Amino acid sequence: MSGEAAVFARGLTRRFGDFTAVESLDLEVAGGEIFGFLGANGAGKTTAIRMLCGLLPPSGGEARVAGCRVGRDTGALKRRIGYMSQRFSLYEDLTVLENLEFFGGVYGLGRAELAARADELLPRLGLDAERGRLTGSLPLGYKQRLSLGCALAHRPRVLFLDEPTGGVDPVARRGFWDLIYEQAAAGVTVFVTTHYMDEAEYCGRVSIMVQGRIVALDTPAGLKARTGGADMQDVFLRLVDA
Ligand SMILES: Nc1ncnc2c1ncn2[C@@H]1O[C@H](COP(=O)(O)OP(=O)(O)O)[C@@H](O)[C@H]1O
Ligand SMILES: [Mg+2]
Repeated sequence: MSGEAAVFARGLTRRFGDFTAVESLDLEVAGGEIFGFLGANGAGKTTAIRMLCGLLPPSGGEARVAGCRVGRDTGALKRRIGYMSQRFSLYEDLTVLENLEFFGGVYGLGRAELAARADELLPRLGLDAERGRLTGSLPLGYKQRLSLGCALAHRPRVLFLDEPTGGVDPVARRGFWDLIYEQAAAGVTVFVTTHYMDEAEYCGRVSIMVQGRIVALDTPAGLKARTGGADMQDVFLRLVDA
């Protein structure tokens, strides 16, 4: 991979007591790539993402994200990444606009900058008509788009999305992926977990994690060729069963 990777991990490991949740993770993701980080429940995806975001100290190994050494350049790392957590936490009693302003404000955006960013993001997220609406009254698909907007408010270079489409219908999922593509086209690196295998097909490359270890990492086409799987669902089952 030429130049510095947007996400780089070598030997990244996390133990909880004598249980190893993430075991010696190695990966490199290029700038602007959409990287799918796949695995069954409990495989270690969230634990790995939390380490890459500087939120959980590793037990071993090293990582660099957006040019920052994880665990060292913490302030710069936080400004350069966006993180939509698996159980994202919007304020239900704030309006759509207030949530966006709150999360942008946390990253130090000033009032004028926040207003400009909201005018840019809300129409793109399909939320312009809802800007004054209480967040708690929104359908889940809308909350997910708002949550993405909150993670994007400060223009991060690398975006971590942990099961962003969990629980929403296929049409809403497809719409959410259009937003992901838009970000990648603008140069943002997207590191996304999902267990919807149709979504795995939308990624440039994917890794498949089983019990804390990456067992395969390639393009969807490459993985299908290697395993003989007809689609990503089939590839996933073959690798997880092996
Ligand atoms: N704070 C913790 N203490 C103990 N075990 C944990 C903790 N966080 C995660 N685990 C365990 O690590 C494993 C991986 O969890 P997680 O990273 O959430 O997986 P995934 O996101 O792939 O579903 C699970 O067995 C989980 O129970
Ligand atoms: Mg998880």
